[in-house]
Amino acid sequence: MDTCIHNALHLEAPVDLLFSGEHIVSMTPVGLQPIPEGVRVIDAEGLVLMPSFIDAHVHLREPGFEYKETIASGLAAALHGGFSDVCCMANTRPVNDCAAVTRLIYEKAKAQYPDGPFVHPIGAATKQLLGQELAPMAELHEAGVVAISNDGRPIASTEMMRRVMEYAADFGLLVIDHCEDPTLAEHWVMNEGVVSGKLGVKGQPVVGEALQAARDIMLAQYLHLPVHIAHVSSAMTVALIRFAKEAGIAVTAETCPHYLLLDDSALEGFNSACRVSPPLRSSEDRDALLAALNDGTIDILATDHAPHALHEKMTALDQSLPGFSGLDLAVTLTWGLVRENVIAEDALHRLWCRRPGEIFRIPTNGFAKGDFANFFLFDPHETWTPNDETLYSKGKNTPFYGQELSGRVRHHFIHGKQLF
Ligand code: DOR
Repeated sequence: MDTCIHNALHLEAPVDLLFSGEHIVSMTPVGLQPIPEGVRVIDAEGLVLMPSFIDAHVHLREPGFEYKETIASGLAAALHGGFSDVCCMANTRPVNDCAAVTRLIYEKAKAQYPDGPFVHPIGAATKQLLGQELAPMAELHEAGVVAISNDGRPIASTEMMRRVMEYAADFGLLVIDHCEDPTLAEHWVMNEGVVSGKLGVKGQPVVGEALQAARDIMLAQYLHLPVHIAHVSSAMTVALIRFAKEAGIAVTAETCPHYLLLDDSALEGFNSACRVSPPLRSSEDRDALLAALNDGTIDILATDHAPHALHEKMTALDQSLPGFSGLDLAVTLTWGLVRENVIAEDALHRLWCRRPGEIFRIPTNGFAKGDFANFFLFDPHETWTPNDETLYSKGKNTPFYGQELSGRVRHHFIHGKQLF
């Protein structure tokens, strides 16, 4: 039966969204056309209508670390968080460096969430992520990986990075680059700055990220090949990306909600819940990232959803595993930036939907006739508190745990099916 989402707010205008089966039929201003007879009508007054989002950077932990997250629990968080598609990183155990692991991820996702959200596995760049030997990208490509990455660990050798880019290009696979100079600050705990000095813990300077980003941007220029810079955290890296784009180098980039909302002062008091890689930087870095999202220097938002068990986070700061659980919270948190007029509502759709769709070649909903009816309804006024009961992810490791937040996904439709 055809369905009409009646009187939802889309970019601040009340609209009727009509869809049939898996596809959009039309989106029209309320009152412009009568709702056709025999259509199921869902009243969405007061709810914001957004296209389903893509999270191009998540860690689903299965196989191997099911105590942190399973594919099923990660996809539950994605579904309730507004994501129809997630690209999952290769640092599982075993690492996703062969077709068997890629296929296992696809099969588990399909068995548990046949109607979506959909996974898009990312293959390892090097075997076991060790940076020593190339991963077998031909078989990874055949098994259906959407990109290649060593995420979690930087590729130290420039020669190896060059070969990764060249080999991946043979299959049209984008390389997602975790930029961190591994020699500059081994065993770092947080950002190098005033706060790390005060706490007396080892810091990683922003130049640790920028050095590798510069190296790989230059490789991209020299080889005429693309590179995607993951989780950009600093103004210095933003400046490099801006320069590269102006020079016509094929670089794209992402940043994550936590770099826009927090800075390294969050670690005062040795707050191990706020340890992440790359680390939270200064408030000046945060401002530069927001500007870069608005001017398109940074192409997309991604969560870097990195679930960990409580015992792995609630330790001494230097022992705490880096990473935040992100899928449940991302839309709420970034809607906050819209509410504060820091970014426009349409920019949210660009950063979480249109651009990641273009970069990773995943179909998205532009609310045009024939597009997949992938969308969610968001209540901007509902308040909720992330805690063990409300978070669908097994990873409860968010700096926002226990804080009352405003705005929540209420319903999510994928391919026209209401999944909650
Ligand atoms: O904080 C992080 N955690 N950053 C990464 O790059 C990896 C991730 C993880 O796998 O836990």
